[in-house]
Amino acid sequence: MKATAIANANIALVKYWGKRDKKLMLPQNGSISMTCDGLATTTTVDFGDYENDIVILNDEELQKDKEAIVAHLDFIRGMAGIKQKAKMVSSSNFPVAAGLASSASGFAALSLAASKAAGLNLSKKELSILSRRGSGSASRSIAGGFVEWHRGQKDDGSDSFAESVVDKNYWHEFRMITTIVTEAKKKVSSRSGMAQTVENCPYYDGWRKTINNDLDTVRSGIKNRDFTLVGSTAERNCLKMHALMMTTTPAIIYWFPPTMQIIQSVMLWREEGLECYFTIDAGANVKVMCLEKNAAEVNKRLLGLNGVIKTIICRPGDEARLVDKHLF
Ligand code: PMV
Repeated sequence: MKATAIANANIALVKYWGKRDKKLMLPQNGSISMTCDGLATTTTVDFGDYENDIVILNDEELQKDKEAIVAHLDFIRGMAGIKQKAKMVSSSNFPVAAGLASSASGFAALSLAASKAAGLNLSKKELSILSRRGSGSASRSIAGGFVEWHRGQKDDGSDSFAESVVDKNYWHEFRMITTIVTEAKKKVSSRSGMAQTVENCPYYDGWRKTINNDLDTVRSGIKNRDFTLVGSTAERNCLKMHALMMTTTPAIIYWFPPTMQIIQSVMLWREEGLECYFTIDAGANVKVMCLEKNAAEVNKRLLGLNGVIKTIICRPGDEARLVDKHLF
């Protein structure tokens, strides 16, 4: 009863920030992302004769902080009608919990590996819905290329899942340069940050009113491979989300000085004719979008900025998949 899966992280171009159902992890709005090749989590799950669930993340056995993972394993055990405890070993090739969507690749890999190990053969839609219950953005890491997570209308969440808009080869020139300025764990989790935003941000209604337009623009921009349209809409959408965060009480400001430095540099480089756009999630790290032809130059300039620790250049990546090589 052992299986191993690999899933890539994803970066949203139109963001998800707020739930309409906290238990089922149903979003207030739809979102669109790129699954990122090169930001991968590999997870092996074995159900067997263990006394308790054992969770080992990046070589460290978790004692506390494992409730969300154990709850997800419980849910899968319930679906499969099994009782055995599990050993889970997971490893990511990028910094976790720093706004790099490690929970997305993590819960997608866990959902695929654990459901398979438990004897379930779920469809992609069912896997996306299962991953969503671990972490909302994980619903998108099940699919490859550019991906849309549908808001859905139903109260039971059966229509709130993610699927590919186009596969990874369709727009293979697109690059997302993950620019790391800190590897520290963020102070406010996205879960509590978004809950607080929905509760008391005075501009939340304004955000909601603009989202369908952003989704339509980015979806059709991807299909037409219109980089200017997709990049500029994604950048504006990110700034709108951070404006929400900054105007909730208490204020949430994820940015560090190098974050601001990158924002202003990207705007300046664009004025100079080097086309690139930024997007930022719940953390200080920045992702810079450009096309393949400009990637080396943009990357060189990013690495020349004060405070940039390293960069990872990602292209559109694969969907989550099972592999034969187990981690234990
Ligand atoms: O599902 P979570 O808890 O990883 O929240 C994701 C929130 C953002 O990364 C800020 C936006 C998004 O759509 O990925």
